[in-house]
Amino acid sequence: MAKRFLCLLPWLGVAFALASTAKEYPFRGARRCKACHARKDTGNQYGKWKAGPHSKAFESLGTDKARQAAIALGIENPQKSDACLQCHTTTHGVDSKWLRGLTLQEGVSCESCHGPGGHYWRTEIMKNTELAKTHGLRLPNEEGFCLSCHNDRCPFYDGFDIDKGMQTIKHWGPPGETAEE
Ligand code: HEC
Ligand code: HEC
Ligand code: HEC
Ligand code: HEC
Repeated sequence: MAKRFLCLLPWLGVAFALASTAKEYPFRGARRCKACHARKDTGNQYGKWKAGPHSKAFESLGTDKARQAAIALGIENPQKSDACLQCHTTTHGVDSKWLRGLTLQEGVSCESCHGPGGHYWRTEIMKNTELAKTHGLRLPNEEGFCLSCHNDRCPFYDGFDIDKGMQTIKHWGPPGETAEE
C-alpha cells in the first residue's frame, strides 16, 4: 500500500484539481451500499465500516469530551457547528437536494471517501470500475486524501500514522485477508 501511495504522489495536484471541478451527483447513504456490501464472502465492507471509527464520527461530537473542547473554542454545540461537522460528517456542505437518504448520523460514511453513489450504485455499473468512475465512484488511494481530515484542525489531533490507519480501516483485498469485525 505504501508503495502505491508514493507512485501516486506526483498526481496529487491533478487529482485535487479534478475533484474541485467534478460533476455533482446525488448521495444515497450507507444503507444503500449495505444491500450489496454486507456479505461475508465478498468482504462485508459495511460491517467493517460500522464497527470502525468513521461510523461514529457524528456520535462522538455529542460526548462531554467533545463539548468541553468546543466550549474552550467558543463553540456551544459541536453537533451543530460547521467547525466540527466539516470533518465529522458526510452531509456537511452538501446542498439538501443531493442528500437522498444520506443522514448526518452516518458520520464519515462510505460516500465521504468513495464519492456520492446516486449514479454508480447499480450492479451493471458497479461491476465495471472504469464505468463506475465516470459515474462518480472514487477509489481514494492518494496519500493526501486521509490527511485532508487527519490534521491539526481537530482539537484532538495527535498525529496520524497512515500505514497503521489504513490497517485499522481495511475493508478491501480478498475476503479473509482483512481484519474481522
Ligand atoms: C446493487 C448492488 C450494489 C450496491 C447497491 C452498491 N454496490 Fe458497490 N459494488 C457492487 C459490485 C457487484 C461490485 C464489484 C465487486 C467485484 O467485482 O468484486 C462493487 C464494487 C464496489 C467498489 C470497488 C470498485 C472497484 O472497482 O474496485 C467500491 C469502492 C464500491 N462498490 C462502493 C460502493 C458504495 C460506496 C456503495 C453505496 C453508495 C455501493 N458500492 C453500492 C455492487 C453494489
Ligand atoms: C471526511 C474526513 C475524514 C477522512 C477523509 C478520513 N477520516 Fe479517518 N477519521 C475521521 C474522523 C472525524 C475520525 C474520528 C471518529 C470519531 O469520532 O471517533 C476518524 C478516525 C479515524 C481512525 C481512528 C482514530 C485514529 O486516528 O486512529 C482511523 C484509523 C482513521 N480515521 C483512518 C483513516 C484513513 C486511513 C483515511 C484515508 C483512507 C481516513 N481516515 C480518512 C475523518 C476522516
Ligand atoms: C480537519 C478535520 C477535523 C475537524 C475540523 C474536527 N475534527 Fe475532530 N477528529 C478529526 C479526526 C481525523 C479525528 C480522529 C482522531 C485523530 O486524529 O487522532 C477526530 C477525532 C475527534 C474526537 C475523538 C477523540 C478521541 O480521542 O476520542 C472528538 C471528540 C472530536 N474529534 C471532536 C471535535 C470537535 C469538538 C471539533 C470542532 C471544534 C472537531 N473535532 C473538529 C477530524 C476533525
Ligand atoms: C475513510 C475512507 C473510507 C470509507 C469511510 C469507506 N471506504 Fe471503502 N475504501 C477506502 C479505501 C482507501 C479503499 C482502497 C482503495 C484502493 O486501494 O484502491 C477502499 C476500498 C473499498 C472497496 C474495494 C474492495 C476490494 O476488495 O478491492 C469497496 C467495495 C469499498 N471500499 C466499499 C465501501 C463501503 C460499502 C463503505 C461504507 C460502508 C466504505 N467503503 C467506506 C476508503 C473508505
